[in-house]
Amino acid sequence: MAPHAKGVHHMAFITRDMEATVQFYTEVMNFPLVVTLHLPKDDPFPGITWGDLSDKKHYFFDCGNGDRIAFFTWSALSEQYAESGAGHHIAFALQTEKELDDARDYLESKGIEVSPVINHFFCKSIYFKDPNGIHLEYSVYLEPCTPEQPFLQDENPVPSAQRILGNKQDQYLLRYAPGSASTGPQAEAEVRAK
Ligand SMILES: [Fe+2]
Repeated sequence: MAPHAKGVHHMAFITRDMEATVQFYTEVMNFPLVVTLHLPKDDPFPGITWGDLSDKKHYFFDCGNGDRIAFFTWSALSEQYAESGAGHHIAFALQTEKELDDARDYLESKGIEVSPVINHFFCKSIYFKDPNGIHLEYSVYLEPCTPEQPFLQDENPVPSAQRILGNKQDQYLLRYAPGSASTGPQAEAEVRAK
């Protein structure tokens, strides 16, 4: 049976300037910052989605109804890079891990190449592409990722994020380090303080 997506889990874009992005989305758009990641120096998910994700910041903002907009820092982008589209990938929301497993089986049954289930510790995901080569994802949250209970892994967030997060930076900071998970994500999260 085809997966029954519950809207957009997150839409990921790329940014030349995460500090300006945090300022704009929190101060102008009033979207709370709910996830901060700084991916390891070695790409933790090589080939899973578009581009080399090594050493990238990846921040998520809550844009209402539990939907999130996310950004990756990306170097060497031209000033006008966004005019030709700055989208990276879009993730559709599923509700349970079983639904995610079933979605994976479903895509395979349709002959679509699909990644293993990737554990990001705040969510689990599978990745695939549409016929255009656009990168797609199904994802299910494992953690609240709310303003009250953010998922913070970036030890050195950009200044505006530091200011916004305040005490939460220490309270919710996790550590995300290269590991040896067999399903693809070479990463492990460890609760430092909660
Ligand atoms: Fe994603």
